[in-house]
Amino acid sequence: MKINVNASIGDHHLVLIPVYKHQILKKDELGLNEELEALFDQGVFIGKQGTHHFLRKNKKVLFFGMGEETAITPALTREAIGGAVREAKRLKAKSLAFYCREPLYLGALVETAILADYDFDRYKTGEKEQAVEDFNVIMKEDYDEAVVAEYKALAEGTLVARDLANEPSNVLSPLELALRAGALGEQYGFEVEIHGREVIEGEKMGAFLAVASASESEPQLIVMRYKGAPAVKKTFGLVGKGLTYDSGGLSIKSTEGMVTMKGDMSGSAAVIGTFAALARNQVKANVVGVVAACENMISGKGFRPGDILQARNGKTIFVGNTDAEGRLTLADALDYIIDAEKVDEVVDIATLTGAAVRALGTTTTAIMGNREDMIKRFFEASTLADERLWELPLFEDYKEQLKHHEADLNNLGGDPGTITAAAFLEHFVGETPWVHLDIAGTAFADKARGYRPRGATGMGVRLLYHYIKGDESN
Ligand code: BES
Ligand code: ZN
Ligand code: ZN
Repeated sequence: MKINVNASIGDHHLVLIPVYKHQILKKDELGLNEELEALFDQGVFIGKQGTHHFLRKNKKVLFFGMGEETAITPALTREAIGGAVREAKRLKAKSLAFYCREPLYLGALVETAILADYDFDRYKTGEKEQAVEDFNVIMKEDYDEAVVAEYKALAEGTLVARDLANEPSNVLSPLELALRAGALGEQYGFEVEIHGREVIEGEKMGAFLAVASASESEPQLIVMRYKGAPAVKKTFGLVGKGLTYDSGGLSIKSTEGMVTMKGDMSGSAAVIGTFAALARNQVKANVVGVVAACENMISGKGFRPGDILQARNGKTIFVGNTDAEGRLTLADALDYIIDAEKVDEVVDIATLTGAAVRALGTTTTAIMGNREDMIKRFFEASTLADERLWELPLFEDYKEQLKHHEADLNNLGGDPGTITAAAFLEHFVGETPWVHLDIAGTAFADKARGYRPRGATGMGVRLLYHYIKGDESN
């Protein structure tokens, strides 16, 4: 999609016009108000959020509903614009136009349009959804070209994450994920190191290796580096869950539970997409990313419920359930990024628990951590990114449930599952400031919502980007 700002209305455009509920247009450059009033009167289109009306008469206008003006928020505006772009795609419009009345919103507008235009149709051999070729922003005011470039890159980073997460597991093995990270590093300008089994064994990452043990595919330790502020001492750490498939292992999932598990590397996709956006925009921050990529499969070589593992930090772990594998890979990745890469603070992002889906549904990510100031900054980033968060508590008593009589820890923590999973991870971060994001509910959508098409959402890229960029201690 090509973005043209300060364009003028051409004949070939489909113009997207936002309409508040029962309100005629304040600025009616195209003389549409009479028609709009007739639609209101007939009750055909009244401007309800999520609704659209295509003017068949001139075929050049698509009204889209914004809902009540008094209730409008930036998030609802994005949803509405995104929905309109999706509808325009359905109508096979190649060139769109949109009046931007307020330069302040230009970045979010560009980002929303790009995100809404996306479809994962690489494997469709027949007719594909048509992509929008041009998005023309009609604006009178001066604007900052750098803002447009920044948000374009941010949207592109999100699409990088969506592409990776949508890729099926028969294509995206741990090695393929590592190679794609490497290629993206070349393309966007960040460093990528990949290590196979030998190094992982040398590092004594016993928890990670156990999860990988049943797979024919070799596990990969992916390390990414971006140094955008060489004079600054602080380094951020990002760890992404990188299960390219999660069958559950011997604690096997149902077919229904398994069929979406190609997406169990969405956390790592978000980390890789964030690196792409940070590097493209040359954000002034230093960031290291680590992904312990592997596949949780079933075979005679696999780990079993009842096994006792030793993690990289020396702690022993009783395997209560082989399907609670994400925390095992994250435990070693967190220890590695803190101990070997010496990051000053760390964020992990993971499709970790089904319980997160039950607690918060598919629109809200669970956040937990050991530093209130970090969580506060995440909430600020969440508003900018329009990626919703809700904090769950990590009270001491929840941690009791992770004890085991034969080992230091049990990987199965009981209810509430999202909290006990986070409490498990806390054992591997020591005193390092840490935040955990459980995106099990938000990484994938089974139906389109606003600017998020069906499939991988790319959740986390914009959140992590704004979090890192907005850090004042930089
Ligand atoms: N990858 C799953 C979590 C998940 C579930 C992600 C649904 C996205 C959608 C994770 O590895 C898992 O299986 N967790 C178990 C943990 C349990 C055995 C303690 C779960 O949530 O059921
Ligand atoms: Zn699992
Ligand atoms: Zn998993």
